[in-house]
Amino acid sequence: MSKPRCTIVGGTGYTGGELLRLLSFHPHAEATQITSRSRMGEYAHAVHPNLRGVTNLQFIRPEDAQHSDVVFLCLPHGEASAQIERWAGLAERVIDLSADFRLRDLAAYKRWYGHDHPAPRWVEQFVYGLPELTREQLKGARYASGVGCNATATNLALLPLVKAGLIDWSLPIVADVKVGSSEGGAESSPASHHPERSGAVRSYAPAGHRHTAEVEQMVSAVTGNAQSSIVNRQSSIHMSVTSIEMVRGVLATVHVFLKEPAQEKTLWKAFRDCYRNEPFVRIVKSSVGIFRAPEPKILAGSNWADVGFALSEDGRKATLLCAIDNLMKGAAGSAVQCLNVMMGWDERAGLAFPGLHP
Ligand SMILES: NC(=O)c1ccc[n+]([C@@H]2O[C@H](COP(=O)([O-])OP(=O)(O)OC[C@H]3O[C@@H](n4cnc5c(N)ncnc54)[C@H](OP(=O)(O)O)[C@@H]3O)[C@@H](O)[C@H]2O)c1
Repeated sequence: MSKPRCTIVGGTGYTGGELLRLLSFHPHAEATQITSRSRMGEYAHAVHPNLRGVTNLQFIRPEDAQHSDVVFLCLPHGEASAQIERWAGLAERVIDLSADFRLRDLAAYKRWYGHDHPAPRWVEQFVYGLPELTREQLKGARYASGVGCNATATNLALLPLVKAGLIDWSLPIVADVKVGSSEGGAESSPASHHPERSGAVRSYAPAGHRHTAEVEQMVSAVTGNAQSSIVNRQSSIHMSVTSIEMVRGVLATVHVFLKEPAQEKTLWKAFRDCYRNEPFVRIVKSSVGIFRAPEPKILAGSNWADVGFALSEDGRKATLLCAIDNLMKGAAGSAVQCLNVMMGWDERAGLAFPGLHP
């Protein structure tokens, strides 16, 4: 039987390139079409040179795409919701990597994106694409959203303590997120010009980053509280995003206050309970060596998320950590992991390789 055929829409971008890399080695799926408006007719490896000798796929115009089994949308914000009718008509399953279908609550979408959702009837059809949170809903689903990379690092850092009910929600939660330059996509801008970007420690979004909405949504989904009672929590989650000298990677450092003074073993239990059976989450907390805490450097190119924690001396404050590769666990890797879950395949299929060291 032939493998399910996948179409990558927006294939010259960084997430599209990562998807092509992953699907080129996937045991159950293959990329059969990849689109570009600007590089139509050229080999995909002309844009993604790491794939020379790996794939001979050529870019086609989006309007020339034929029916396939799965469509991955790797488009700038707003394009997926503008084009969803067409792509859903051309595939059984759609996985959208953009922010267009991540938020379940239309009011939250309007609050964070500043306008009504352009395709509201599609919103409830999409499952939020973070298997650690929505695995059961993803099984057999036809439509999955992507995840925000900063949201994913923050969510995976917070999830154990949210699930264990250890957090004091009356006090602020502060997520300090450090990110690499590939978050900005392949399109260049004055801010990405090498002399301006290299060596930068740039407060990109010191307050009000839109990915906060996905963290609020996770908290709401896990705690099961009604929208009205979440108001206090919504205003208590603060995310700051800082661009640093990395190409790939996100490190979320999340500070929370605990309801009651805790011991380290309580946090160990919360993390183990949460991630014991997760195929792509590792708890990293060592007292020796260089890599004692989660660090994005060794995750580059992989779908792993490394999580860890530290506790203050009085046991009241916890610092939660999560490192990922933004283009992998924060985008294309999660999308393939979702596909695996949606199709009922081994969740690790095509993804079970480590990052690089050194
Ligand atoms: N970069 C990350 O770390 C990251 C992480 C998580 C999620 N995401 C999300 O994933 C999506 C893709 O991100 P990216 O970094 O891969 O972006 P990107 O590098 O800027 O690539 C965007 C792609 O979309 C194509 N495109 C643009 N407008 C189009 C249109 N109207 N119709 C059809 N194709 C169009 C572009 O190619 P042509 O102009 O040649 O058609 C290009 O291939 C974004 O929504 C982003 O927010 C990115």
